[in-house]
Amino acid sequence: MATDPVSPGAEAALESIRDGIAKGRFPAHVFNDRQIFDIERQRVFSKAWCFLAHESEIPDRGDYVTRYIADNNLIVARAESGDIHASLNMCRHRGNMMCKSEMGNASHFRCSYHGWVYKNSGELVGVPYMKEGYEGRIDKRDWGLVKVRTQTYAGLVFGTIDPDAPPLEEYLGDFRFYLDLYLKQGSSGSEVHGPPDHWVTDTDWKIAAENFAGDGYHTPVAHQFGFNLGYFASSGSTHSQGWAASIPGKGHGIGLGHTPGFPPFAGFPEELADEMRRSLSPEQVEVFSQTRTAVGTVFPNLSFLMQPFSIVPGEAGVRFVTMRLYHPIGPGRTEMYSWCLVPKDASEQYKREAYRAYTLAFAQAGTFEQDDLENWARVTRSAGSTMARDIEFPYVMGMDSVRDPDFPGPGHVVTPYVNDSNFRNLWSRWSDYMTGQV
Ligand code: FES
Ligand code: FE
Repeated sequence: MATDPVSPGAEAALESIRDGIAKGRFPAHVFNDRQIFDIERQRVFSKAWCFLAHESEIPDRGDYVTRYIADNNLIVARAESGDIHASLNMCRHRGNMMCKSEMGNASHFRCSYHGWVYKNSGELVGVPYMKEGYEGRIDKRDWGLVKVRTQTYAGLVFGTIDPDAPPLEEYLGDFRFYLDLYLKQGSSGSEVHGPPDHWVTDTDWKIAAENFAGDGYHTPVAHQFGFNLGYFASSGSTHSQGWAASIPGKGHGIGLGHTPGFPPFAGFPEELADEMRRSLSPEQVEVFSQTRTAVGTVFPNLSFLMQPFSIVPGEAGVRFVTMRLYHPIGPGRTEMYSWCLVPKDASEQYKREAYRAYTLAFAQAGTFEQDDLENWARVTRSAGSTMARDIEFPYVMGMDSVRDPDFPGPGHVVTPYVNDSNFRNLWSRWSDYMTGQV
């Protein structure tokens, strides 16, 4: 691993940020800062389990996508054995990028510079002029593509470049209870519906990650039209109701919006709701059946949202799931990936409707996405200003709230849904990484 670039002054500043979070304060500049960005690459993204792909994006042997961990481009491929491998997209000869497309199918990759050939699992199998040039001085077994460790949970493929990272199961911890809502829609699980929407935005990844960790506070304001026009199957006046659940010490958090009188599993086809009642645990069924909106973030930069959306205003909503990855490409600049996840076993008609609801609400041009991005870009710009260096934000909502003793799900669970509890947990974990505790 490269040397850690953090100066003693920056270390002290990070420690002071860490102390501030415990008191409900977090500095503005963190959301658009070159030094913070550089340290995040080294200490957060080079250490955490980072989301790479959903297994259903590469269902067949040879299928691949290219994705990033920090600034490292990776080929994530399903090999001939059926196993998934992630390898650094960098030729071991002189460093050329091996694969130039974002997705495709290939059993091998041939370097366009001097012609070294690798299997999609990363092994070097072909070297031009091997006998004449190298005269036995290299062993192909030593010069395969650099491998990245991967593990999966319910179809999600994660990778880490930290050899000492704990197993993924431990990393996700009890958040798996909540992830199942998105990933186990029906007994066969969920799959992506088409390739991701993919765009670049002048937004810091942390603003998006925080919002999706359960910012129910912004919804009645930023997305006011949704209530006014009838796209939302609830009303702004009940929007604070529900729970904020976070997993202490892990950073993951989810907001669970609840509308009294909302029919159980509203917006799902009835047969799918029945399947979920059978395949999920009784505690999960109790939580999920009464959830209108579920919006959560897996630390650091993977988020999900599920909610019903009325394709025709005023009519019954269709429940859709979006999964989103915020890949940081600069201070205050993010490459967004956004997928629609649908239940594998659902009818084609429901999959199409869910995709339609997702596209109208989120994706690159969705109305809700536009509302959010407009705000996030302005927050990012302000956070990068000179006066913002000395400004802090309050994270004190629900500071003293205690765990709801009746809630059947794991973690620190507080009510109402409008609460900073999940964000304190998120930034506290971020601080653990940034101060080198992880
Ligand atoms: Fe790939 Fe030379 S850089 S073969
Ligand atoms: Fe929003």
